[in-house]
Amino acid sequence: MKIAVPKERMPGETRVATSPDVVKKLVALGADVVVETGAGDSASITDAEFKDAGATIAADEKSALKDADIVIKVQRPVIDGSLDELSLLKSGCVLIAQLQALTHPDDVAAYAKANLTTFALELMPRISRAQSMDILSSQNNLAGYKAVIDGAGEFGSAMPMMMTAAGTVPPAKVFIMGVGVAGLQAIATAKRMGAVVTATDVRPATKEQVESLGGKFIMVDEASMKDAETSGGYAKEMSEDFKRKQAQVIADHVKKQDIVITTALIPGKPAPQLVSAEMVESMKPGSVIIDLAAEAGGNCALTEPGKVVVKNGVKIVGHLNVPGRLPKDASALFARNVFNFLSPHVDKATKALNFQWDDETVKGTLVTRDGKVVNPMLAGEAR
Ligand code: NAI
Repeated sequence: MKIAVPKERMPGETRVATSPDVVKKLVALGADVVVETGAGDSASITDAEFKDAGATIAADEKSALKDADIVIKVQRPVIDGSLDELSLLKSGCVLIAQLQALTHPDDVAAYAKANLTTFALELMPRISRAQSMDILSSQNNLAGYKAVIDGAGEFGSAMPMMMTAAGTVPPAKVFIMGVGVAGLQAIATAKRMGAVVTATDVRPATKEQVESLGGKFIMVDEASMKDAETSGGYAKEMSEDFKRKQAQVIADHVKKQDIVITTALIPGKPAPQLVSAEMVESMKPGSVIIDLAAEAGGNCALTEPGKVVVKNGVKIVGHLNVPGRLPKDASALFARNVFNFLSPHVDKATKALNFQWDDETVKGTLVTRDGKVVNPMLAGEAR
């Protein structure tokens, strides 16, 4: 069983899909692990560390992927005019990555045509058993932390209250919009830094979670929140009436904030717009907006994905791939997630792959098999 880990080719990707710790575990399972030279460079993991852990280092991507039974990547393969990573994978190969399958159906069709068995890790079901396999959790937790650090870095004042002989510095007011995995970590981090933290969400369960972390919950409309969550634990798109009420409540609150961190996402859809241009205009000069939803279009109307812009004296930060701003930790956790997903399907006696196709984590993430697109979510079924 040859497992290959290439260097990531997607522009801006700093992570690598395995770690020395996980290479050791894969080798112990009986796998031959091949890592492309330089794969860990941007995550500060050297070829020597991978080699010491038991991997073979391949000189280029082509030789790394040649005859691989399993290819593990962070990002989906690049398929464009200049590069076609898919053509390097053998027919029947298993590809495990964050494929962004719901938003890249053409790529999914290409995986089926190439006869690959593909798993989209972002589709991992939200069940307790799968928590250790959940890349969205592991990566968004880091993103929530980094958002606060980035916010504090851009903000020209201090986070905690300081009573000094020269006078008192007031604590920063931090408002978190969207209290999923990233939002919860952002609340915890901002509290630890001494900020005054408020937060809002559409899912009712989040009120208690915010309060348990010492934040204050900003309620929009309790009645309409009752139906805001899917059975999978995700938010639904809200009604026009809710959006209007939310805009009013938020407009009042946002203008008093120093740092606003937005994390609101709806799977497979553009991010909901929560901070309008008028709200940005109402904020004090020097305030900061960190838009973690930039990759999905942004929660703020003035976010420019991939850029830091200043509008009316307000800094709007639209970094892409925020987990990739902590590449070493993000790679280590991603690698563990993949191992936890894959290892139950390796036969201990034969040391070969033997997927249990009716396992919920396999069914949920499987995208293509035997030349066909098989995931029901790609056939338009709700999550
Ligand atoms: P997400 O990244 O999809 O969205 C972030 C947050 O934005 C969510 O809390 C969502 O409710 C909120 N949001 C969406 N639209 C909004 C709007 N218009 N206004 C305000 N907020 C809005 O969410 P994430 O982080 O993936 O978490 C979703 C749920 O899944 C959570 O309950 C989390 O605890 C749960 N979860 C369960 C796991 C498991 O059991 N294996 C693993 C990870 C998360």
